[in-house]
Amino acid sequence: MTFTNRPAPLRALVGAVALVAALPFAASQGDKDYRHHTMEAIGGHMQALMDILRGKVDHSEHLSVHAAALASLAEITPTLFPPGSGGDDTEALPAIWDNPDDFAERLDLFRKAGAGLRAAAETGGDVMAATREVGQACKGCHDNYRKK
Ligand code: HEC
Repeated sequence: MTFTNRPAPLRALVGAVALVAALPFAASQGDKDYRHHTMEAIGGHMQALMDILRGKVDHSEHLSVHAAALASLAEITPTLFPPGSGGDDTEALPAIWDNPDDFAERLDLFRKAGAGLRAAAETGGDVMAATREVGQACKGCHDNYRKK
């Protein structure tokens, strides 16, 4: 008996586990909680940025940290709205899934504004203007897709 045969069943097992993991499943409470926590993180970085820009704290060296975090979070935001993750217990409106093209555009504007903010912070650009742009992207989406 040699060990050369062993990897094959192991590979099959790993393959089966990967397949089960990739099967589509209905959006869970976990999906909604995760979206909520990620949005709160986005809100936290925005508020921290504003604290610095308004001079509440003297941490201008942190601007690029919050800007980069916002840019990264904007990149994963498109994955936070799986079909079936609306409902009474969330602030996400059904319009999200009824208007996929417009919603995708909102996501795209957010991604672009986030990238612009990161670039401004890294290159000593106008971080205030870039932050306003991001704020417009938040509002542009919340106005139509988040319960008041
Ligand atoms: C493409 C749409 C979109 C963009 C862009 C967006 N949001 Fe949201 N946001 C939502 C939706 C939808 C909800 C409601 C989610 C829920 O309740 O499940 C939400 C919820 C929130 C919440 C409350 C937490 C929660 O989940 O209820 C905060 C805080 C928040 N957003 C902040 C921001 C900030 C700050 C920005 C911009 C930097 C931003 N969002 C950009 C769609 C967006």
